[in-house]
Amino acid sequence: MTSSDSIRMEKLCYSIGGRKILENFDFLLERGVNRTILGVSGAGKTTILKLLLGLLNPDSGSVFLGDLCITGLSESSFMQQRKRIAIVFQGGALFDSMTVGENVGYRLFEEGRLSQAEITQVVIEKLSFVGVEAALNLYPAELSGGMKKRVAIARALAADPDYIFFDEPTTGLDPIGVFNICNLMQRLQTEGKTTLMVTHDLATAFATSQRFTFLHKACMLFEGNEEEMRASSIPEVQEFLAPTDSSLFV
Ligand SMILES: Nc1ncnc2c1ncn2[C@@H]1O[C@H](COP(=O)(O)OP(=O)(O)OP(=O)(O)O)[C@@H](O)[C@H]1O
Ligand SMILES: [Mg+2]
Repeated sequence: MTSSDSIRMEKLCYSIGGRKILENFDFLLERGVNRTILGVSGAGKTTILKLLLGLLNPDSGSVFLGDLCITGLSESSFMQQRKRIAIVFQGGALFDSMTVGENVGYRLFEEGRLSQAEITQVVIEKLSFVGVEAALNLYPAELSGGMKKRVAIARALAADPDYIFFDEPTTGLDPIGVFNICNLMQRLQTEGKTTLMVTHDLATAFATSQRFTFLHKACMLFEGNEEEMRASSIPEVQEFLAPTDSSLFV
C-alpha cells in the first residue's frame, strides 16, 4: 500500500458561521478498505465528503488525493486524481430535464473521448449492473426513490472510478430497497471498487463496511471494526449503537 492508493485528511479544521464542524480531523481511506463514517444528523458527514472532493475548502489542514495535496489548488489542477472518485449524492442529484440514459452518460459525453455509440454501450452496461436498464428512456420524475438511487449509482460508475462515495444511500428506502443497495455495494467491492459511505443507518453500515469512523462534536471519537465498535466503552458510541429512552428526548 502506498500513499498514492489512499485519500487522506490531515489536521483538518472547518467551520460554518462560527460553528466548528471539524476540528483537527485526521482521516484515512485506504484502497480496498470499505469504510463508513457514522454520526448523528448534522454532525458533518456530508461536509466531509465535500471536503474530500475539493468542493469545499478547509479553514486549515490538508486533503490528499493520493500523493497530491489538493488544498488550495484549482479543480483543474487535480482533475486526474479527482476522476478516480465518484459520488452518489444524498438525494441522487439527477438532472430532471434529462432521461436516465442521458444522466448516466452525461460525464462521458462532456469528456468527449467516446463516440455516442460507445457511450450508449457503457450506459446500458451500467444500468444493467444496477438492474434498471428498462428505465433508459424514462425521466427521473417517472422513477421510484429506489430506482433513482440505482440510476445515481449507475451514473457514478460510468467513469469507472476506483473510489465511490455514498451519501446516505439507503435513507427513505423500504427494506427491499435497502437490501438491493447493500447488495450493489457488496458487488462493487468484489469488483475492486473502494466504497466510502456516510450514514446513520447502522444495519447498512455493518452490512457493507469493514471499518467505521464515528464523528461526534467535530472530532473523530472512534475508529475501528464492528467488533471493536460494539465493545467500545465510549458512552457516545454506545448511545449511538443503542439509544436509550432518555437520549431520544435530548
Ligand atoms: N451551506 C450551509 N450553511 C449553513 N450551515 C450549513 C451549511 N451546510 C451545512 N451546514 C451545517 O453544517 C452542519 C453539518 O452539515 P452536514 O450536511 O455535513 O451534516 P450531516 O452529518 O451530513 O447531516 P445529515 O445526516 O442530516 O445529512 C449542520 O449543522 C448543517 O446545518
Ligand atoms: Mg448529510
